[in-house]
Amino acid sequence: LTGQDLAGKHVLVTAGPTQEAMDPVRFLSNHSTGKMGYAIAGRAAMRGAEVTLVSGPTALDTPKGVNRVDIRSARDMYDAVLSRAAQQDFIIKAAAVGDYRPAATADEKLKKGDGELNIRLARNPDILAALGADKRPGQLLCGFAMETQNLLDNAESKLRRKNCDMLVANSLRDKGAGFGTDTNIATLLFADGHREQPSIMSKADLADLILDRLLGMSRR
Ligand code: C5P
Repeated sequence: LTGQDLAGKHVLVTAGPTQEAMDPVRFLSNHSTGKMGYAIAGRAAMRGAEVTLVSGPTALDTPKGVNRVDIRSARDMYDAVLSRAAQQDFIIKAAAVGDYRPAATADEKLKKGDGELNIRLARNPDILAALGADKRPGQLLCGFAMETQNLLDNAESKLRRKNCDMLVANSLRDKGAGFGTDTNIATLLFADGHREQPSIMSKADLADLILDRLLGMSRR
């Protein structure tokens, strides 16, 4: 039992997908269910932290004791996270943020024609990179990476590029990992270069492990 070892800590977690509107009825999104981020938020609250969960649209119940802020688009998530970042001790970015949005959102439903339709996409701001560029002393930043190939190389490069203290790499290809599952297979990468590869575990247990490692780093 971990008790209330996160008492006094302010923890912000992002979770779920973002939705990028094309018109009033359609959007661009991904398969994230929010389970990993909700598990982290729930465990952090159980361990006594003051938790803010910035969540994209999910079907999940708000974990007990968690302050939930609902958003839809990546730009809304950017505003919700950046406006609360300064007060946080740990920021854990488990959300699957859309990298692109339709460059224009139509006011009325787009009507179909006979031929193909091309949609121009605009780049969304990178929330984690913005947090990393503006990290206050003592604040710890944890990112996530999910890839279909070259997972660990990509994860290592994200950890550096976005100035994270820790990065959780999870594969989409492994059985028991990825979207919607209750278990995860992850490699933890740390800014000091070391790595940790726990075996398959529940998302709740992985949440505790991530929080253990952040707490350990905060005491150093
Ligand atoms: O580079 P990539 O998007 O794969 O990085 C993944 C990490 O960055 C995740 O922690 C994700 O939540 C975060 N991210 C973000 N803002 C974006 C894209 C990704 O915070 N626009």
